[in-house]
Amino acid sequence: MELHEYLRTADEIERDGAAALAAAADADALEAARIAFLGDRSGRIKALQESLKSIPKESKPAAGKRFNEARTRLEALLAERKSAVDRAAGAGAAEDLTLPARRQWEGAKHPVTLVIEEIEGIFRELGFTIAVGPEAETEWYNFGALNFPPNHPALDAHDTMYLEREGLLRTHTSPVQVRTLQRFAPPIRVLIPGKVYRRDPFDASHAPAFEQIEGLCVDEGISFVDLKATLNLFAKRFFGASRTRFRPSFFPFTEPSAEMDVQCGICGGAGCAACKGTGWIEILGSGMVHPSVLEAAGLDSERYTGWAFGMGPARIAISRYKIPDIRILYDSDARFLEQIAGAGHPGGAR
Ligand code: PHE
Repeated sequence: MELHEYLRTADEIERDGAAALAAAADADALEAARIAFLGDRSGRIKALQESLKSIPKESKPAAGKRFNEARTRLEALLAERKSAVDRAAGAGAAEDLTLPARRQWEGAKHPVTLVIEEIEGIFRELGFTIAVGPEAETEWYNFGALNFPPNHPALDAHDTMYLEREGLLRTHTSPVQVRTLQRFAPPIRVLIPGKVYRRDPFDASHAPAFEQIEGLCVDEGISFVDLKATLNLFAKRFFGASRTRFRPSFFPFTEPSAEMDVQCGICGGAGCAACKGTGWIEILGSGMVHPSVLEAAGLDSERYTGWAFGMGPARIAISRYKIPDIRILYDSDARFLEQIAGAGHPGGAR
């Protein structure tokens, strides 16, 4: 073969090869083009290399140089095209519609809210309605009407946050007992959730502002049997099959008064750190509404009787969810809230 003929053939192969590689739209087409031009066995570059043998000796350096150029150029084009085709395939994978969507952060209810809502649900089934009252309260509703003597230590400014001009921040939800009895005629069955305030230092088990839930039932012929039966039923529903016990107690606005404990769900009553070795968890204070509270609200205490209770849902939440420090409930760290919300109701009977 003459040199000029060889050079023309090399031009053709290079031009055709470049066009074929450029036209290859995917990995398969590119591979076909590679085999056709750069394939080891029957590729056209290979054929061009073979025909070098038939070039006259004096033309060989020029022909060899042209051969190398053509091969190098097509190899470079192949590499370039290959990475472009790979990139395109990768971009396709990123749009894979079968991939699960990125999870959306949804937030979660606060553990105290979860406890309040569950308690409300249980009492609603028993015919209780939800009632609320003001957080800024008068001394009379918070103490006087509830049979606190004027010298009772709870009235001291060390314990109660008094407002600048008059009144105070209620120290419990019990004043709403009186407000309810004044506004509605028996039979009364109300559940009263709300915030209360006490001049307590913020520590692992105390907070200066916290939630309470009050319950009140007043009608003719209501007795301590109703109190015990209702609160036992509540404990069964909320804490599972736990046993309860009632201990004598004192509140100025109930007589007799009792604290209700439920058997510790963690140790089953054997005694552990959660129940401070007693086997019991204090849940609420309760008692028969004191006649002078009924009278203060304008009711005939000879005709009507009733019972009431008060409990702290934060206390219940820390024992239910095994939260070591009550202050965690006030941080509102979303990671913590999410953990509790995802944990379900470990101690619950549902
Ligand atoms: N008000 C009481 C407290 O804050 C709880 C309570 C309510 C007790 C109703 C008896 C009846 O501790």
